[in-house]
Amino acid sequence: MTRILHVSDLHFGRPAVPLQIDAIEALIADERFDVVAISGDVSQRARAGEFQRAAAFLRDARRVSETIVVPGNHDVAWWNAPMGLGDSGALYADYRAFIDDDIEPVLDVPGARLMGLNTSHGITRRTLTWNMRDLSVLGDVTRAQLERLRTHCEAASPDAARVVVMHHNPVRGELSQRHGLKHTKKVLGAFAEMGVDLVLCGHDHQEAIHFVEHTKKGTVVSTAGTVSSRSRGGRPSSVNSIDLTDGEIHIVTWIWEPTARRFAPGPVKVFTR
Ligand SMILES: [Fe+2]
Ligand SMILES: [Fe+2]
Repeated sequence: MTRILHVSDLHFGRPAVPLQIDAIEALIADERFDVVAISGDVSQRARAGEFQRAAAFLRDARRVSETIVVPGNHDVAWWNAPMGLGDSGALYADYRAFIDDDIEPVLDVPGARLMGLNTSHGITRRTLTWNMRDLSVLGDVTRAQLERLRTHCEAASPDAARVVVMHHNPVRGELSQRHGLKHTKKVLGAFAEMGVDLVLCGHDHQEAIHFVEHTKKGTVVSTAGTVSSRSRGGRPSSVNSIDLTDGEIHIVTWIWEPTARRFAPGPVKVFTR
């Protein structure tokens, strides 16, 4: 069995809640997951000091687990190169310096291959919108990225679960009523063709677990809520844990309990793969 802790949207900086960060660190130390996966928005404003605090969190997690992280829209210094004009190297410079030089890492552990997919590109022609609030917020995946992902999937060991780690939610949020990602049908269709078993994402700040049906192969989507003060609709913070067995995917959402100062497990959802 492979055990993954899926956390998202930690937003180190003002929204981070130290008690909740401590509680996740305790959960990681107690449960000793095989992998801790963070699906982006580790910072609030892509500031070096925020990344530094996220890096300390990752360093502690690495003492007991493997880790994989991808950038979220808050982690991209988009103002350095809007529409590709300016210093595009500066978009991820601090993220690369403090978090991971690779913005699309691949991690192999017994039973699973986890593949990072960067959906946070700053302000580009492809995600341009008249809605000012959405500038730099929308997620996107290019054809070249999908081709690279396909290569990673094909090179995975046949019995390994194929897991994509990305920031933007491809399934509409219940409260937000929005997808974070553009062209979700195309992207989810490509995942199914590639035999992706599981997607780990965030961005919506509301936890959700879905099964996306497809003629070729269905995909389980774990959307982790935020661990910060930015939860949607005043809901408590949460994280998801995932157990991968040969034929099944078990997902549990752990909900923040303020009085007990810990994350407590909720009911388990089971899918076949
Ligand atoms: Fe976020
Ligand atoms: Fe986000």
